[in-house]
Amino acid sequence: LNDDQMMISPDHDAMFPPRPTGLVQGILSAIVKPGDWVIDATAGNGYDTLFLAERVGPMGKVLAFDVQAAAIEAARERIAAAGFAARVAFYHESHALMEAQVAARSVALVMFNLGYLPGAEHELTTETATTLAALEAAARLLVAGGALSVICYPGHPAGAVEAQAVAAWLTAQAAKGWRVAKYEQVGTRRPAPLMWIAAVT
Ligand SMILES: C[S@@+](CC[C@H](N)C(=O)[O-])C[C@H]1O[C@@H](n2cnc3c(N)ncnc32)[C@H](O)[C@@H]1O
Repeated sequence: LNDDQMMISPDHDAMFPPRPTGLVQGILSAIVKPGDWVIDATAGNGYDTLFLAERVGPMGKVLAFDVQAAAIEAARERIAAAGFAARVAFYHESHALMEAQVAARSVALVMFNLGYLPGAEHELTTETATTLAALEAAARLLVAGGALSVICYPGHPAGAVEAQAVAAWLTAQAAKGWRVAKYEQVGTRRPAPLMWIAAVT
């Protein structure tokens, strides 16, 4: 959970309507299949990595990226504790470099949860330029029929700029034929986290 989410609304504790982080897993659990190769572009504390590792099963693979050593360590521990180490490859590097690790058109899902690691250094946040480069890379890696998910945090200034860039990029993909959807809570004091989900054509 991102610190920004904690501050958006006094009724934050309410679990309904669902938060993007929970909602996205619910949606993706119907999409990710045993044996799939998938990418967690922002491993963080490894909650999404764990979710993906469960879904792809022993024949699948999760490639998990993070620029923060503490994040890779936390995610690696979570995966090891669950007994999934053999099906997850960790990369302590930027998600902008994901294409070096896997063949084009071979990935079923790329999952982004932007922003910073909760409880860690807030300076180590995702940045618009590298996020856009990573989205371009993801588009080249995804199979036709694959999926892309992105959670943005427009509640802080840099996150707002990034969220706008992501919105423009995904809207352009929709114009090229991808099916793109957006989910966000409205009426919050600050812009709420929002979730994008796209089906690649
Ligand atoms: C909101 S957190 C992700 C939370 C995570 N999905 C989880 O389940 O715990 C965002 C993460 O993106 C990472 N990050 C920032 N810039 C990055 C980059 N260029 N490449 C990969 N990860 C990056 C941060 O270090 C942080 O851990």
